[in-house]
Amino acid sequence: MIATTQLKTTNSEEIFAAAQKLMPGGVSSPVRAFKSVGGKPIVFDRVLGAYIWDVDGNQYTDYVGSWGPAICGHTHPEVIAALHDALNKGTSFGAPCYLENVLAQMVIDAVPSIEMVRFVNSGTEACMAVLRLMRAFTGREKVIKFEGCYHGHADMFLVKAGSGIATLGLPDSPGVPKSVTSNTLTAPFNDLEAVRVLFEQNRDEIAGVIVEPVVGNAGFIPPAAGFLEGLRTITQQHGALLVFDEVMTGFRIAYGGAQEKFGVIPDLTTLGKVIGGGLPVGAYGGRQEIMSMVAPAGSVYQAGTLSGNPLAMTAGIKTLELLQQPGTYEYLDGLTKQLAEGMLEIAKETGHAAWGGHISGMFGFFFNQGPVRNYEDAKKSDLSKFARFHRGMLEHGVYLAPSQFEAGFTSLAHTKADIDRTLEAARAVCFSSI
Ligand SMILES: Cc1ncc(COP(=O)(O)O)c(C=O)c1O
Repeated sequence: MIATTQLKTTNSEEIFAAAQKLMPGGVSSPVRAFKSVGGKPIVFDRVLGAYIWDVDGNQYTDYVGSWGPAICGHTHPEVIAALHDALNKGTSFGAPCYLENVLAQMVIDAVPSIEMVRFVNSGTEACMAVLRLMRAFTGREKVIKFEGCYHGHADMFLVKAGSGIATLGLPDSPGVPKSVTSNTLTAPFNDLEAVRVLFEQNRDEIAGVIVEPVVGNAGFIPPAAGFLEGLRTITQQHGALLVFDEVMTGFRIAYGGAQEKFGVIPDLTTLGKVIGGGLPVGAYGGRQEIMSMVAPAGSVYQAGTLSGNPLAMTAGIKTLELLQQPGTYEYLDGLTKQLAEGMLEIAKETGHAAWGGHISGMFGFFFNQGPVRNYEDAKKSDLSKFARFHRGMLEHGVYLAPSQFEAGFTSLAHTKADIDRTLEAARAVCFSSI
């Protein structure tokens, strides 16, 4: 059995205390503050392969992977070498760059729905842009999103996930005008009937449906059989567009993303995370007739000072090249299956209700009897138990996402031995500290 290390976090605590005076909540993005698991956040110093080290010298096996991009493992030597070469040519051109062609061609070759692509700097930007394009193409203003799905922090996607409030389109955050979210309709994930009703109630007004084809932002929730196919049929029946937000699933659950995995082809797709290989990137793409509306080819405006940045393009190209090697997704699938099934087995053995699963290198589990089909089900999880589990795993050298409502990620750098050690830690924590 792995011995519990009494984590020494003096340096982390000092740095985080100082950070709180400098930045709201001490962080640059909210989940990092550990609010939902309690305790002080760990401040990190470096990453390599499947591991991450904090500023006190503690080493953890990392299942966050920078929230998805680190699919080849952190600091992959080939990515770093390519970045060194690119750095020597400069960090930003603000002008066309050949590397954009290379990554664009790779994305177009891989993702079935994409005939043309535009690079941006984040998943948020990609989703904002795609919404404008959906509205411009259809001439309609309303859009359907699903409760618990996250499409970045743009105003019109910040709609409360609670059902009654959600259907009224009330904003999720102060500062978001009701007028902006009133055109955002919401339905429970995996509920085709709710989508049908919204289309009936808003005839010829809905531009389209945007969905995380596998939810990762309410914890890991896979689509029920026929759900994505149903969305495809309903949107087509109503002359609306279907958008897969593959910022998380793109190049993660299959090289061609969820659309390749499930064989359902949307009209438009958003990407991010993996295609930037750890540098800031996003992208959106789709059929040529729709993408041709984007400026300067068309009149739908969207721009970016750093878009198509040569460093981000380089890291993305090298990452996709590495992912093209035979056996990549089989390896991720086998490893993640061992982890996800192992976790559930241990929870069962130790008397904790749990539900979860995985698709390729994306996984999740809830302290919840299950099945978890949507956000309402996910919210039934025992959050304080998850918080204790999270802390226990940290103390055993395992870094999980600091929230029950986030999917986990494995990488090509994780080994069977890493998973064995993680499961040993989970067993120890489930027996003793939760
Ligand atoms: C599915 C999905 N869409 C959009 C975003 C927003 O991307 P970014 O954080 O790069 O703005 C995320 C981020 O986690 C995401 O998971």
